[in-house]
Amino acid sequence: MKQVLIDAYGAPHEVARCAEVPDVGAPAADEVVFDVLLFPINPADLLLCRGNYRLKPPLPATPGAECVGRVSAVGSGVTGVNTGDVVITLQRENWTQRRRVKADHVIVLPAGIDLQQAAMLRINPATALLLLTSVVPLQTGEWLLQNVANSSVGRLVIALARTRGIRTMNVVRRAALCEELKALGANACAVDGPELAQTVRDAAVGAPLRLGLDAVAGAATGRIAACLAEGGVVCAYGAMSGDEAVMPRSVLSAGGVSLTGFTLTRPLSKYPRDQVRALYADLARRVMDGTLYAPVERIYPIEAIRDALADAQRGGRNGKILVAPNGAV
Ligand SMILES: NC(=O)c1ccc[n+]([C@@H]2O[C@H](COP(=O)([O-])OP(=O)(O)OC[C@H]3O[C@@H](n4cnc5c(N)ncnc54)[C@H](OP(=O)(O)O)[C@@H]3O)[C@@H](O)[C@H]2O)c1
Repeated sequence: MKQVLIDAYGAPHEVARCAEVPDVGAPAADEVVFDVLLFPINPADLLLCRGNYRLKPPLPATPGAECVGRVSAVGSGVTGVNTGDVVITLQRENWTQRRRVKADHVIVLPAGIDLQQAAMLRINPATALLLLTSVVPLQTGEWLLQNVANSSVGRLVIALARTRGIRTMNVVRRAALCEELKALGANACAVDGPELAQTVRDAAVGAPLRLGLDAVAGAATGRIAACLAEGGVVCAYGAMSGDEAVMPRSVLSAGGVSLTGFTLTRPLSKYPRDQVRALYADLARRVMDGTLYAPVERIYPIEAIRDALADAQRGGRNGKILVAPNGAV
């Protein structure tokens, strides 16, 4: 079977290759085997290839924090998972044609779910939901501020905030995106830059902002912080600039703004498995009813993993890059 391997840490499109590896074999009593139908290339996967992610597995390694698959075989002791089920897995190393994992590590999705959205269900929707609900409890009618608003996470934050009556102030680096985000339910949109704080103040008509979500880092963190009300919280959950988050002393001391971080693994690893299943059942329901949607730019075959990785590193995309390891779905 085919599997993506990286033999060294470096530029993702140079270090990754599509390799021929032995098949995963039959499932043990407590395992399931599934064909990987689609996987996305996420920023964290790119960081892992570069050796800049918090996990640095021994080489050669297979990246891939998420995927969607269809079960082809179940072990004799497995209940609740059946051949033909559409599943996601809580395990990594998903850039491959087939997986054999413990049945406890898969989540069965509703039949008929959009497979492209399902491939992206494990990470970004859960991240958007927990960023919205677990950092600063916002009341209906309050505003939140976020950059990378046109990213997959950003769009999901807009959609989920809207269902809660929370207003979103959205920061992008391409003005042309603002109309599209407003059509999704964004309440206001601004282009990042030195005037951001004034633009945001004007757009929110003086309403205090208590939460700023930052996935750019570097000086962008300070620009988000400068928009917040006294005592506000910047949550740094990504670093698309490749830099560390920088908070000017003035906003820390005079503005009383604080900086915190977020990674999905931390809260999820503390959830009992039933709560994890309930979370994904809720998110899958919201995908099925159309509330949650992330656009897809292009789907590649696994043999073209290097082209897919080059495309995923391109700015100005209009959606995720997916890979279909077993052919078109
Ligand atoms: N902490 C967690 O647990 C967690 C979980 C999931 C995601 N994340 C983070 O969330 C962020 C968004 O992920 P995603 O999957 O939603 O991303 P995505 O859909 O691939 O979109 C990437 C976004 O980053 C912007 N961008 C790229 N390079 C940039 C730069 N140098 N400066 C400013 N903006 C830049 C892009 O803007 P253009 O469209 O203008 O190019 C786009 O808005 C990433 O940082 C990711 O690591 C964190």
